Amino acid sequence: MRNMKKCCILLSSLLWLCMALWLTGCGSMEKKDEKKSIRIGVSLYRGDDTFINNIRGELEKCAKEYEQENGVKVNMDIQDAKGSQNTQNKQVERFLSLGCDVLCINPVDRTAASVMINKAMAAQIPVVFFNRQPVEEDMDRWDQLYYVEAEAKESAVLQGSIVVERYRENPGSLDLNGDGVVSYVLLEGESSHQDALIRTEWSVQTLRDGGVPIEKITGGIANWERSQASALMEQWLEKYPGQIELVLCNNDDMALGAIDAMDRTGISGICTVGIDGTTPGIEAVENGKLVGTVSCDKKKYAGAIFGIAASRATGQEIPPEIELEEGKYYRCPQQIVTKNQK
Ligand code: GAL
Repeated sequence: MRNMKKCCILLSSLLWLCMALWLTGCGSMEKKDEKKSIRIGVSLYRGDDTFINNIRGELEKCAKEYEQENGVKVNMDIQDAKGSQNTQNKQVERFLSLGCDVLCINPVDRTAASVMINKAMAAQIPVVFFNRQPVEEDMDRWDQLYYVEAEAKESAVLQGSIVVERYRENPGSLDLNGDGVVSYVLLEGESSHQDALIRTEWSVQTLRDGGVPIEKITGGIANWERSQASALMEQWLEKYPGQIELVLCNNDDMALGAIDAMDRTGISGICTVGIDGTTPGIEAVENGKLVGTVSCDKKKYAGAIFGIAASRATGQEIPPEIELEEGKYYRCPQQIVTKNQK
């Protein structure tokens, strides 16, 4: 009887040992199954946009760092939609047919994202949108849709506060002709872009709230582009000689365009402010041409796009440092950049 008991104990121990070995064996098999490579399809609304190019550069760095840290090969295919939604739709189809694990899309037409969402949902491939926000109804269609941005209202309030602070310190640096009013012109981004409308509204509002006596001379849409802004500014300088005291720009490239026009016509001393903190924008702040800009942390911006994408591709949790609002929106921190404040 005692021997029988011993035998039973021995057998059950053996059984436990086998199970444990089998389980650890399974664990290592699972390890073998872990993804050794991920494929990410990225489509940019326009590859020649300065800010988007800065983000692209950071995304490429993120991919390299991820490969080094995790030993996972990242195949990141970055395509330029060259301003055509049709081209972008085709790029999405191609990415899906190539077996991408996740897509990162900077939509050409933010109101037309539903076509791309349909395709991604049908293939069960998550999408991280960035910079051009799909409409809410589209974002709410699936829990595998994300959006990364630098919040437009925050950018504008910070931009406005650069001017408010300057005015408080020295009103004469803005009210150049001393008539008690700061006369401004406005350079706006694409009319269909949510950022352009919100930035204009809140930049002007912040000046008013901050007690700067402003008066608008004129404004125009230069579609985020340096050359378009430069052409508009040249016309205004000619039409309103000696009257322009402030140039409010929805982004740095347009601010640089306005500065190009001033340089060409030999005019200086007009306060110009931008948004983005692009590489040439920051250079212009450093050399005193641009009074200030609002810079989003591009490393964090791209890090959020990449981090969400990589976690979706590998089936892991989104890293907690990428703080998402409503489980899908990431808003990148921003800061003022002026010569004294960096
Ligand atoms: C804005 C940015 C612009 C331009 C645009 C493209 O947020 O300030 O410079 O890049 O996005 O969508």
